[in-house]
Amino acid sequence: MRNFVKKAIGKIEKLERGQIMRLINLLSDENEMLETILDSMDEGVIVTDIEYRIRIVNKNANRLLQFQTGDLHDRIVWAVIKDQETAEFVEKQIRSEGKIIDEEFYTEKGTGTAILTLTSLPFVKNKKIEGNILILRDVTEKKQKEAQFRRAENLASLTTLAAGVAHEIKNPLASIGIHIQLMRKNLNQSGCIDKEAAEEYLEIIDEEIERLNGIVVDFLFAVRPMDTRIKSEDINKLSEDLLDFVKYELEKNNIQIETNLSQDVPKIEIDSKYMKQVLLNIIKNAIAAMPNGGLLTLNTFRKDDRVHIQIQDNGIGISEENMAKIFEPYFTTKDFGSGLGLTVVFKIIKEHGGEISLNSKEGEGTTFTISLPLPQSERSLLSWGIE
Ligand SMILES: Nc1ncnc2c1ncn2[C@@H]1O[C@H](COP(=O)(O)OP(=O)(O)OP(=O)(O)O)[C@@H](O)[C@H]1O
Ligand SMILES: [Mg+2]
Repeated sequence: MRNFVKKAIGKIEKLERGQIMRLINLLSDENEMLETILDSMDEGVIVTDIEYRIRIVNKNANRLLQFQTGDLHDRIVWAVIKDQETAEFVEKQIRSEGKIIDEEFYTEKGTGTAILTLTSLPFVKNKKIEGNILILRDVTEKKQKEAQFRRAENLASLTTLAAGVAHEIKNPLASIGIHIQLMRKNLNQSGCIDKEAAEEYLEIIDEEIERLNGIVVDFLFAVRPMDTRIKSEDINKLSEDLLDFVKYELEKNNIQIETNLSQDVPKIEIDSKYMKQVLLNIIKNAIAAMPNGGLLTLNTFRKDDRVHIQIQDNGIGISEENMAKIFEPYFTTKDFGSGLGLTVVFKIIKEHGGEISLNSKEGEGTTFTISLPLPQSERSLLSWGIE
């Protein structure tokens, strides 16, 4: 179709009036069809020239951003938005040239607040940036569904955690019960308890109460919402600081350290206190897995628009059966483990929008890989073929 039109325009001087009319009709039909397609899209679409003047705008863009009335064509895009705050937001986003911005913002809708996302891309023609394409999406419903899902997920993990607590407190409670019964039996038999025996019973009861207290404290930490203070941090520096902190313990256990910290890794948005807790819990497990010494490797690298942190040990490894359970609250194979170390790790990583996975082989060792999202400003500009 395009080629045909181009050819016809090339020979326009030789065309008869009727042929020109047909050509105009054809072009107008095609234009109308494109407009209908644009208007039937769920997204709001705006195309501007290099000076941010509106070239194309569809109905949904108007509905989502609420423009002033009148002809929009050729007007600066943010100047026609009624709401001042939204206008300022759009101006800021569209001016960050050369970057693909995908930002969420709130705007007032007739029925309440709407959550929109604005994607701003360069409009590239013949390998040159000729303007901007703005795409708007109403994600209010999606966000509500996600929040509902998270709530359900939290509730489900709370149920497992509560079941774990119930199981954990059974033993100390039973032990307290037994020792009180023993004391009562002694009292009934001889009318009094000798001091030494009483002290022994009371000491055990004290220890069990201490254990119960520990379970409650750990439980509260695991369920309490985290008050993260997110800042832009250098993950390589944070890893080095932490390794420095555990250096003595590693030396004492005859464990060598190897680090490969990629210089490609940009700063990421994290709470450094919690992220140090993550690394510490994983490294402590690695130390416990290498009772006869070994090698601890810490790598950082950037891949697929995410930052990866890998912690590897060549210790005892984890059986396939246990691998599925290690993030569960209270799962431990240690005599004095709480089994909450990795539960906390999981919670913190999820709170940062990250993922954690592991690879392990019994007798060979274990690798934990954490991946965290890059900040928006660091996401790579897709290949636009721009020269
Ligand atoms: N690097 C590792 N090598 C081998 N086993 C591991 C490793 N990391 C974790 N595990 C297994 O996962 C279990 C759960 O780990 P988690 O950190 O949650 O609790 P824990 O270490 O047992 O107790 P705590 O962290 O409270 O001291 C451990 O008991 C151990 O069996
Ligand atoms: Mg642990």
